Order: sequence, then C-alpha cells, then structure tokens
Amino acid sequence: MADKSAKHKLAVLGAGKMGGILVQGFLKHKLATANAIWATLSHAEKVAKRSADLGVRLGTDNREAVRHADVVLVCVKPQTVGEVLDEVKQEMTPEKLVISIAASVPTSFIEARLPARVPVIRAMPNTPSILGAGITGLAAGQSVKPAQMEVARRLFETVGRTVVVDEKHMDAVTALSASGPAYIYIILESLAEAGVKVGLPRDLATLLAAQTTLGAARMVLETGDHPALLKDAVTTPAGCTIDGIMELEEGKLRVTLIKAVVKATQRAKELMFA
Ligand SMILES: NC(=O)c1ccc[n+]([C@@H]2O[C@H](COP(=O)([O-])OP(=O)(O)OC[C@H]3O[C@@H](n4cnc5c(N)ncnc54)[C@H](OP(=O)(O)O)[C@@H]3O)[C@@H](O)[C@H]2O)c1
Repeated sequence: MADKSAKHKLAVLGAGKMGGILVQGFLKHKLATANAIWATLSHAEKVAKRSADLGVRLGTDNREAVRHADVVLVCVKPQTVGEVLDEVKQEMTPEKLVISIAASVPTSFIEARLPARVPVIRAMPNTPSILGAGITGLAAGQSVKPAQMEVARRLFETVGRTVVVDEKHMDAVTALSASGPAYIYIILESLAEAGVKVGLPRDLATLLAAQTTLGAARMVLETGDHPALLKDAVTTPAGCTIDGIMELEEGKLRVTLIKAVVKATQRAKELMFA
C-alpha cells in the first residue's frame, strides 16, 4: 500500500500546457513541495517566465531533473519522447517510476529505451484537469507494482478522476476523453447558436447551454442511470423534446459522434510517427 502522506520528488519533462496543469495540481494538493519539482522546457529563453508562473525549479536539463526525482513525468509531444528518453536513460533505475502522458506512445516503446525493470505507466489526462474536473486513463507497463499504480492514481486525482484500463484501450481513451472536450464545445457552441436563432441574447444562450451540459453530465455520473433513461424522463409524449430529438436523428448526430471517436482512435495510434 502506498503511503498516502508521502511527498514525491518529481521531474516534469516538458512543462508545457499539460505538464504545467499537472504541476499546479500537485502543488495545490501538496503531493510535492515546490522545491521538490524539477520541470524542463526546450527553449532556454522561456525558462525564467515559466519558472515564475509555475513556482518550481525549471530548466532545460532533463538529466538533472531526472537525477533528483523518484517519479518522472514525460509530458513532451509524442514525436519527442524517444529523444528525451535517450537523453535521460543513464539516470533511470528500477526505483524510479516513469509516467508518460504522450498520446499514442506505448509503454513497450518507453521500456525498450530504458534500463530493464524500470516501471512505466501510460497516462491520458484531459484539459478540464485545469479546473480539477479532468479524467485520466492510466495503463500499467510490464514492471509496474500495485503500489506504483496507486502513486500514479494519487498524482492524477489532484486534477480530477482516474480510471485504470488495459493498455489496449488507451487510444480509445485518448479519442473519447482527451479529445472529447473539443466535441462537447462544438455541441455547446451549436446549442448556444440555436438559442440565438430563436431570439435569446448570446450570453444567456451560452449560459443556458453550458449549465445544461454540466447538469446533464452530473445526472449521468451521480444517478448512475443509463443516459437513455434520463433522456426518456425529459421527453413528454407529444411534447416539444421529441420534435427536437427527431431533428437530431435525421441529422445523424449519434452516428456522427460515433464516427468521430472511431476516426480519432485510428489517428491516436499514429501520432508518434506523425
Ligand atoms: N493538450 C492536451 O489536451 C493533452 C491531453 C492529454 C495528453 N496530452 C499529451 O501531453 C503532451 C504535451 O502536450 P501539450 O499540449 O502540453 O504540448 P505543449 O504545450 O507543446 O508542451 C510540450 C512541452 O515540451 C517541451 N519540450 C519539447 N522538447 C523538449 C525537450 N527535448 N526536453 C524538455 N522539454 C521539451 C516544450 O518546451 P518549449 O515550451 O520550450 O517548446 C513544451 O513546453 C503530448 O504528448 C500530448 O499527447 C495533451
């Protein structure tokens, strides 16, 4: 069992958008102190500002960051993962835990570039993590012990929920929950446009659409009811909702969303070679 009060020494290789969000979550929830986080970037000229923004040690030396860490988060773009691992592999030991958030990069790719038995976890967070409302899929590589997966869960629970899945599902997780906020924004924006079309001021239409999206999501999560059942509860016989649903069916909303996730899953398999 992992020690729940444990503080970690963390290396965050690639403190860009997602790496930065994670650093802020770890600090906010006191899983690490500011001086126990070493983050890196590639552009030296950005270091001073980013370091001041995040409030942690920050530089361009990945090896130095890894030397001081017991957990190493790889947060660079998928195509850069190989070169960063080559740079730091001499500092890696089986006592350090590696967590990669890079889309499309399998744990086997990372394991093959590191010394034997270094534990590797693949993680896929999403941008609502900024608000602590994210969800992260986690998958274990071959040398990961349950206590190490527990460490990963605790780290990512600072920015939302976590689910542990078999690695074969990680490209699907990427397409559904990591890309998903973009699909929901389009739906939300379209509902707001619809509100404008039927005469509502834009701000009011956006508020109505956003709070409705949030409320519907909470109904699914908190009641545990099937979405179809919740939809039926809104749909009065001969009422107005069923007319709206008929338009959605005619416009093939369902099949369009399914096809979007299928396409994004296929693309997620290719990103590291892009
Ligand atoms: N954004 C998302 O919604 C999301 C969701 C889940 C997972 N991810 C994954 O998160 C990873 C990062 O995505 P992002 O959106 O955060 O990209 P990003 O904002 O571009 O961040 C990438 C960071 O990596 C740094 N970097 C590049 N080469 C480096 C090197 N050799 N050593 C150290 N740092 C280096 C960059 O430094 P500079 O700033 O100096 O260029 C940049 O800060 C990707 O693999 C992506 O698949 C992203």
